[in-house]
Amino acid sequence: MKNALLIITAFSLCLGAVGAMAEGDPVNGEDLFRNCLACHELKSASGDRIRRGGRVGPNLFGVIGRPAGGLEGYRYSDGLNALNEMGLVWDEEQLTHFIANPNSYMEEALGAGHISKMPFAFPDGGADIAAYLAKIGKSGS
Ligand code: HEC
Repeated sequence: MKNALLIITAFSLCLGAVGAMAEGDPVNGEDLFRNCLACHELKSASGDRIRRGGRVGPNLFGVIGRPAGGLEGYRYSDGLNALNEMGLVWDEEQLTHFIANPNSYMEEALGAGHISKMPFAFPDGGADIAAYLAKIGKSGS
């Protein structure tokens, strides 16, 4: 009787451990985002500079949920304009995929010969950055 109880307890402990799914970690993403600051800033709609950064690339505040190539006033490459016309909206999965290798993302989406203007690839930790960008975008105006 006592043994049976122990077995049940051990079993439910195992189930608990399975509950922890792999998802992006926004705290780590906040740190990793320093890799993007050379070319991207995070500036909210009301003009707050959340992270100071370069402007070679588009402002990434609110990019999750924004149409690809959709920031007004920024001159995107033909490739990103084509993604915009296709109706792509950035979600965490697509963004992770894109930054892992922007040029091969373009080729997969649009066919050979298409490249991105983004001269930077970030193969590891992209999901954490995507989770951070999603959280920042929701956090304010
Ligand atoms: C050396 C400069 C540079 C760095 C570093 C860089 N980017 Fe970019 N990024 C760009 C440029 C330029 C574009 C515009 C690409 C185009 O038009 O094809 C861009 C576009 C993007 C887009 C598409 C945005 C939109 O409005 O559709 C995302 C998302 C993005 N970058 C994320 C990142 C992240 C995250 C990092 C850090 C891991 C990063 N970039 C690092 C230059 C850079």
